[in-house]
Formats: sequence, C-alpha cells, structure tokens
Amino acid sequence: MKVYITLLFIFSLLLFKSIIASVQIQNRYLLGDKFTYAENQSTTTINILTGEKKVQQQETIYIEHIVELNDPLTNTSAEIEKTYKFVRFTPPDERAARRLLSQRTREFFQKEIELSVSQYSVGQRWFTKSITNLDKLITVTRIYENDEYNTEAISFDIETVGSITTLGHTIPHHYWIKRDIDVETGAVLSEETIKKTTVIYQRTTDITTRKLIKRETHIHDL
Ligand SMILES: *[C@@H]1O[C@H](CO)[C@@H](O)[C@H](O)[C@H]1NC(C)=O
Ligand SMILES: *[C@@H]1O[C@H](CO)[C@@H](O)[C@H](O)[C@H]1NC(C)=O
Repeated sequence: MKVYITLLFIFSLLLFKSIIASVQIQNRYLLGDKFTYAENQSTTTINILTGEKKVQQQETIYIEHIVELNDPLTNTSAEIEKTYKFVRFTPPDERAARRLLSQRTREFFQKEIELSVSQYSVGQRWFTKSITNLDKLITVTRIYENDEYNTEAISFDIETVGSITTLGHTIPHHYWIKRDIDVETGAVLSEETIKKTTVIYQRTTDITTRKLIKRETHIHDL
C-alpha cells in the first residue's frame, strides 16, 4: 500500500512537471521591495596588433529598490533605484570604486522581459530587433522548481549579434546571456553574460555573472 501511494505520488509529480511546461511571468512585487545582487565582472582586452593583454575584475554588491510603480494595477512598468553597497576592482581603482559607491541610477525593472509574449513554454524561440538594430534570438530553455530560492523559475538563452556604428566606426557586437527569472516576480535570479566586441584593433571580452542574494518584500522573504 505504502509503495503504491509513493508510486502514485511520484507519478503525479511527473505529471505536474509536464503540466508546468508553460508559464506566465507575474509581477508580484510592491513599491519598496528590495532585490540585492552580487555581481562579478571580468574584462579582458587584447590588442590584436601587439598581443598585449589586460584583465580587469570588478566585484560588486548592489541593491535594486523599487521606487516607482507606474501602473499599480498591473505592476508593470516599475522603476528601480540602483545603489552599490560594495565595490572592489582588481587591479585596485579607488576613484572608480568611490564613483560607483556614490552613484544612484534609475532604471526600469524587468526591462529585459519581452512583454509581447504572455505565455512561455520550453523550446519557444523568437527574434527581435533592438533599437540599436542588433538581432536578438531568445530561446526558453527550461521551466523548473528552483529549490535554492524556493520558487518556480524560467531560463532563457539570449543571443545578440550585430554591429553598431559610432563616430564613423562600425563595431561588431556579440552577446550571449543565460538568464534565470523568478516566475512570481519577474526578477532575475541568476544571470551570465558574455560580451565580445572589437573596436579597430582592440578585442574585448566581458564576462559578467550576477546572482540574487537577498529579497526583502512586504509579502514574504525569499
Ligand atoms: C501586484 O503585486 C501584488 C503584490 O504582490 C499582487 O498581490 C498582485 O496580484 C500583483 N498584480 C498583478 C496584476 O500581478
Ligand atoms: C564572485 O567571485 C567570488 C570570489 O571569486 C565568488 O565567491 C562568488 O561566488 C562570485 N559571485 C558570483 C555572483 O559569481
């Protein structure tokens, strides 16, 4: 009997997993909610002509604080204020660190979510063109229960290719992003970004990883 119930339980879990293969990202957050992220960025610059290589690293901890809800009914179009709590550059750069620590920027929350899509399922993919004319290919790779954050999460692969012309130079860009989003709030749980750009004879590779380390909300804590 016990085995039977266990099997039934496992079977219903499997069934449930296949049912949640399609989700809608919600906007369950409130004015005043705070999302704290830890971020590491490493920038490698190579001079193609001389072979000279430079590596810079930046470790930061910052808070995204929801300071404005433009539409409290749907919770869409929220604005965050981003402030840094911790900054460390390697090699050290005290001036740049101080500048970041004193900086307050305003950005849109969830600016990367494509609002045109309301229901996501694994394997779904679509193209968009950004304002800067870069081609973006977005793929939904996974929808799963994230045990670390105790929430349902959705993973995206985003590849961006194209070139931007500034001051008469055409600069090729290539980005790869792996992003995990909390289905309940639309907030980023973790993200890895690889950016490659070439400016004349200088090739830059930028690798950034960030992770949600704390969420403070009026609803409940993650
Ligand atoms: C907005 O957020 C609140 C608080 O989490 C939630 O109760 C409400 O359902 C959300 N509204 C929508 C449309 O997501
Ligand atoms: C950043 O780097 C530190 C030290 O190498 C590591 O402990 C931490 O997990 C990294 N954090 C992220 C978000 O990659």
